[in-house]
Formats: sequence, structure tokens, C-alpha cells
Amino acid sequence: MTHPVSQETPRSKCPYLWLSTFLVLACLFHMSSGIDVTVFKAVKEMVALSCGYQIPLAELSTSRIYWQKDNQVVLSITSGVLKVWPEYKNRTFFDSTNNLSLVILNLHLSDEGTYTCVVQKKTDQTYKLEHLRLVALYVRADFPTPSITESGDPSPDIKRITCSSSGGSPKPRLSWLENGEDVKTHNTTISQDHETKMFTITSQLDFNITTDHIFLCSIQYGDFRVSQNFTWHASASEQLPDKQPSWLVTIVVVLVAIIST
Ligand SMILES: *[C@@H]1O[C@H](CO)[C@@H](O)[C@H](O)[C@H]1NC(C)=O
Ligand SMILES: *[C@@H]1O[C@H](CO)[C@@H](O)[C@H](O)[C@H]1NC(C)=O
Ligand SMILES: *[C@@H]1O[C@H](CO)[C@@H](O)[C@H](O)[C@H]1NC(C)=O
Ligand SMILES: *[C@@H]1O[C@H](CO)[C@@H](O)[C@H](O)[C@H]1NC(C)=O
Ligand SMILES: *[C@@H]1O[C@H](CO)[C@@H](O)[C@H](O)[C@H]1NC(C)=O
Repeated sequence: MTHPVSQETPRSKCPYLWLSTFLVLACLFHMSSGIDVTVFKAVKEMVALSCGYQIPLAELSTSRIYWQKDNQVVLSITSGVLKVWPEYKNRTFFDSTNNLSLVILNLHLSDEGTYTCVVQKKTDQTYKLEHLRLVALYVRADFPTPSITESGDPSPDIKRITCSSSGGSPKPRLSWLENGEDVKTHNTTISQDHETKMFTITSQLDFNITTDHIFLCSIQYGDFRVSQNFTWHASASEQLPDKQPSWLVTIVVVLVAIIST
């Protein structure tokens, strides 16, 4: 999903933009709020970030093109020679025929950020800014459908269930619903893996087992949501205790063994 936005004209806020790469970086830093296009993708997908500008093949030799992420260069084409920075090697391509697109394969969460395309043209031994475009890239990781497990009985009438899901991003929010209404009393914790930047969310809910319940555990991250139901039948559980305590089973087995010897 992309939202192409208005401004196509090169900006002139940085008159010395053609002087050096360093000044390009310094200058861009000050105008980083002017995002032209926003792109949403998921991890492992590929993306083609368009510079929104075509350049005749013959003019490549007198042009400089940079793709930068935040304030670090991803790749450059100077006098027709492509250079890709080490951490982008083997998963980044430049598509000169498709609006000078930066193509990134196998997206990571860490690829999220603002990318800047700079096109400069040589006139009289100096490079002048020809075109500038800022593209914001958001990368999400989908949470799996949450699992709900029974996790003990804090007191005789009360049962505790735990809903959890992990390996997603952006930061999730969790809610429990019963009959469409928010159940406020639950313990929810969120953690983030330092390396992968993925989130884990876990929530415990206690309920009174003497009445029927249908709970929905719902996890929202960005514009996406995953959920899971949990159903409790009070009457059924009273009439049909689903399992004997394990110590009782052990005693019976031992007694049978003793009697039969
Ligand atoms: C890219 O791939 C080539 C050949 O497959 C390999 O020699 C090189 O080490 C790789 N570079 C990176 C940065 O992974
Ligand atoms: C290049 O960008 C322009 C304007 O954004 C668009 O109209 C055109 O279809 C694009 N060309 C290609 C080959 O994607
Ligand atoms: C939440 O956690 C606190 C402390 O660990 C505990 O006392 C409380 O019973 C828990 N509440 C629920 C609804 O699980
Ligand atoms: C559970 O519900 C029953 C019936 O509403 C009530 O009598 C009982 O006190 C409740 N137990 C707890 C621990 O709240
Ligand atoms: C949960 O149950 C409700 C009502 O029974 C149903 O409409 C909904 O699709 C279920 N959701 C999931 C995630 O199973």
C-alpha cells in the first residue's frame, strides 16, 4: 500500500547541495520532515522505492545518484558506476529504468526508516541538484494467531488463562473482550527482543468458573489484528470433572497392584 503525495518539484532550501556529499547529508538532515511517499511492507517481502524520476541512459554518465537511509549511504551511481555499501550487498539493487528505484529484497525490521533519493547533474564541472525525494518505509512483522492456555486456579472458584503471541512488530496492544465489552482486569506484559526487535505479548485473565464465559483475546499492532476465543461452560464442568487429580490415579494404580499380587 503506498500513498503517493504531492511535491514533485526539487526543493531549493539547500543552495549548496551540490558542493559535497557531506553537505548533502547535513542539509537533508534539516529537511527530513518533507516525506513525499510512504510505503508499508512486511518482513521478508521485497520493496521497490521509486525516486519518481526518469533519466535518459545517455545522461547517466554525467549524473550522480544517491540513495541514502537516514544519514547513511545505501548506494551511489557516479558517472554510471554503481557502488553498494557493504551491509546492503546482495540484497539491494538499483533499477535505472524504473524511476531510479532502490530495490531491497528480504526486508528486515531494521530496514524501516526514511530513504532519500538525490539526483545531481553535472554542468560546468559542478554537480547541481536535479531531483530529491524522501520515502518513508514502514516494515511490520505479523503476529501469529494468539494461543490461550489454562494456567492454574488461583482459588477454588477462579481459573486463570493466559493469552500470548510473539514475533511481531510494531508494538502491540492486547485486549480481552466478553460479549463485546472490554474486560479491564488482566495482567499484560510486553517484551522486545534486542536483536530481532520483535515483540512478545502475554496476558493473564482470572475468571469465576461458576458461570459461562466466551472471551476473545485480541492483539492489535499497527492497522492489523489477530485474535483467539476461549469458551467456558460452567454447567458441563460441574457435571463432568474432566480429569482426576493425578495423586488419586496413582493411589488406585498402587492399590490394584497390591491387591492383584
Ligand atoms: C555476496 O555474495 C557473494 C557471492 O555469492 C559473496 O562472495 C559475498 O561475500 C556476499 N557479500 C555479502 C556482504 O554478503
Ligand atoms: C515513474 O514515475 C512517474 C511519476 O511518479 C510515473 O507516472 C511513471 O509511471 C513511473 N514510471 C515507471 C516505469 O514506473
Ligand atoms: C496480576 O499480577 C499480580 C502480581 O503478580 C497478581 O497479584 C494479580 O492477581 C494478577 N491479576 C490477574 C488478573 O492475573
Ligand atoms: C463466583 O461466583 C459465584 C456466583 O456468582 C459467587 O457466589 C462466588 O462468590 C464467586 N467467587 C468468587 C471467588 O468471586
Ligand atoms: C470468536 O467467537 C465469535 C462468536 O462466537 C466469532 O464471531 C468469532 O469469529 C470468533 N473469533 C475467533 C478468532 O475465533
